[in-house]
Amino acid sequence: MAQARTTELSWHTFKDAPPRVRLRPAQPEEEGAVMALRRACGWSAESVPQQFRAMRDGRRTIYIAVGDGYLVGTITVEWVHEDRELADGVTCAHISNLVVHPAYRHRGIGRGLLAAVQRAAVRRGCRLMTIGVDHGNDYARRLYERLGYSFRKDVNAPWGAIHVLTRPLSDHAVA
Ligand SMILES: CC(C)(COP(=O)(O)OP(=O)(O)OC[C@H]1O[C@@H](n2cnc3c(N)ncnc32)[C@H](O)[C@@H]1OP(=O)(O)O)[C@@H](O)C(=O)NCCC(=O)NCCS
Repeated sequence: MAQARTTELSWHTFKDAPPRVRLRPAQPEEEGAVMALRRACGWSAESVPQQFRAMRDGRRTIYIAVGDGYLVGTITVEWVHEDRELADGVTCAHISNLVVHPAYRHRGIGRGLLAAVQRAAVRRGCRLMTIGVDHGNDYARRLYERLGYSFRKDVNAPWGAIHVLTRPLSDHAVA
């Protein structure tokens, strides 16, 4: 299995992870591990350096799931987006780049990562979470809908149409 070992620095564990998997913000030196994970999942890693730069600037946070000492999943929460309906830096934040290694799927890691970023958004005072899903990715869309997301609008990306889904956030809603 092509995976990248992670360092085990500065753990901030979340209660949302399944047994033996820990969720925490990525460390700057884990950029290469995130790139390796995306490639192992058949996704492009081209945007990862730019994502880590945006994290250093405070515009987003990249979370990772670590199981058995390996990076097995990742998700990004964008605090500010050029489309302010998606993330305005105050009341709403945007989820992107959710991916779980194929060998670790169906264990609740995806849901755990989603719950972790929702909690982080609540702690920052956000009241709305948005998420984009590619047209045709019905599996991911159904997962989001089961977690309370509903359709808001379509936007166009260079690679095709994206459905934007939203859900309200409150201490009660993400408990
Ligand atoms: C979408 C994705 C991130 C989901 O990750 P995941 O870790 O498998 O998600 P979860 O395990 O939390 O939930 C997925 C399924 O597992 C089930 N599940 C969750 N916890 C479980 C557990 N403890 N035991 C058994 N099943 C469980 C969920 O109910 C759900 O059910 P389903 O398989 O019947 O649909 C993953 O499929 C993926 O990386 N896909 C490719 C990238 C992608 O499309 N990303 C989304 C971009 S918008």
